[in-house]
Amino acid sequence: MEQTAGLTVIVLAAGGGTRMKSKTMKVLHPIAGRSMIGHVLAAAQVLEPERVIAVVGHQREAVGAHISELYPDVVLAVQEEQRGTGDAVRAAVEAAGGVTGTVVVAYGDTPLLRGESLRAFAAEHDAAQRAVSILSGIVADPFGYGRVLRNEEGDVEAIVEEKDATRAQREVREINSGILAFDAEFLMAALPRLGNDNSKGEYYLTDTIALAREDGLTVGAHPIDDVMQTEGVNDRVQLARLGAELNRRIVEGWMREGVSVMDPATTWIDADVVLAPDVTILPGTQLLGATVVATDAVIGPDSTLKDCEVGAGARVVRTHGELAVIGDEANVGPYSYLRPGTNLGARGKIGGFVETKNAVIGDGAKVPHLSYVGDAEIGEGANIGAGTIFANYDGVAKHRTKVGKHAKTGSNNTFVAPVEIGDGAGTGGGTVVRQDVPPGALAVSAGPQRNFEGWAVAKRPGTPQAEAAEAAMGTRPDDDDDVAES
Ligand code: UD1
Ligand code: CA
Repeated sequence: MEQTAGLTVIVLAAGGGTRMKSKTMKVLHPIAGRSMIGHVLAAAQVLEPERVIAVVGHQREAVGAHISELYPDVVLAVQEEQRGTGDAVRAAVEAAGGVTGTVVVAYGDTPLLRGESLRAFAAEHDAAQRAVSILSGIVADPFGYGRVLRNEEGDVEAIVEEKDATRAQREVREINSGILAFDAEFLMAALPRLGNDNSKGEYYLTDTIALAREDGLTVGAHPIDDVMQTEGVNDRVQLARLGAELNRRIVEGWMREGVSVMDPATTWIDADVVLAPDVTILPGTQLLGATVVATDAVIGPDSTLKDCEVGAGARVVRTHGELAVIGDEANVGPYSYLRPGTNLGARGKIGGFVETKNAVIGDGAKVPHLSYVGDAEIGEGANIGAGTIFANYDGVAKHRTKVGKHAKTGSNNTFVAPVEIGDGAGTGGGTVVRQDVPPGALAVSAGPQRNFEGWAVAKRPGTPQAEAAEAAMGTRPDDDDDVAES
């Protein structure tokens, strides 16, 4: 990877983002599983910069803490008052105690920006030895953007902001994306020369272009083909639109890497998800967070997996999972709820209407139907009967249940934790297990069945139940000796 000597990236994120109408700062809003500024900082990393400086202002504590958590090395510069992009860059340069080499300025609200584009832009800037380079864009509707003004020779003369532009200048469709590259020496000399005598009363970073021209220095603009990469989010409508576009790009990227996606329009994949070739994704599936899926796994339809690990050849149908591990060739679903700490072994099964939490389920072990498995360890090859509840909570504390290898437990059991069922042990239908079951033993807790003859006719006379019973019995019993008292 090429290394640009002494490269500094400055990310501006001090603005309020009021149009989001949110208590959360704009750049912290998530898109494809990362904050907007997280995407920009990730792109910046591709440049292998010597230093990254983030300018924070509004909600600086929240934004600063988020940035430091993602990238502890990022220098935080505080811009007390948002007096313009020129003032923001000045705050950045001050916080870093000066800059050398090349300086790239980007904004924290452009989530589609790719590191490769920044790298190509910085490389072109360095090669051309310019004082300033503009990453520009040709757009159909330039409203609101700074326009790139060129002379008859096509040389860049200045950037004029929408509000300060003449009617003729507003016709220009080449816009300033906001991403600029500077020779550090020129930048440091130019910043104190910026004025705020303009319609917004702000210090415009874009005025540096005219200053460079005055000094007879080289400036240039390079239009990016893919303008969406530099598009900023101002409101939630744009957030959704760019979110859908980013997702479309991610999904397409995985298809090109060998992943089958039956319905890209209903498939959502976060930026940090990792998929192997020959994974198949069926409609209505969301793969979120740091989810990793191994080859030949089939996920969906209608499944959401967040921070999950799915093994090779596993099958996951109509499932909601979070922080769960699904082993190779395991089967999950339909209608399974995998909560954090679920770890299903190879060829294991978590079936329909089963909820699991903090549950380590061994290789080949099965929980096929209608169960709750919390704080449990189930040995390899064990089978849990339908409708089993691992009663892990006594109202005060959580306790663990251990089921041994190849144990076979009956339907409709309750395991009252802490309790242990030994290897190869079994339980009868309806058993409430309150005491440990030794290896190989069969536990039953329900009493012998008693039939109270004639109960329906004696105790529910005149009801359809009694009539049905009478019809089936053919005769009314002559006394109620055998009938239950209650
Ligand atoms: C800016 C550019 C314009 C460009 C457009 C692209 C200037 C003067 N104008 O205009 O040429 O076409 O971006 O989107 O540079 N910010 C701070 N501190 C401030 C002001 C802004 O950190 O004092 C940050 C904002 O949070 C935002 C970015 O800088 O991320 C751009 O600021 P904004 O006010 O939106 O600039 P525009 O008017 O859109
Ligand atoms: Ca803007």
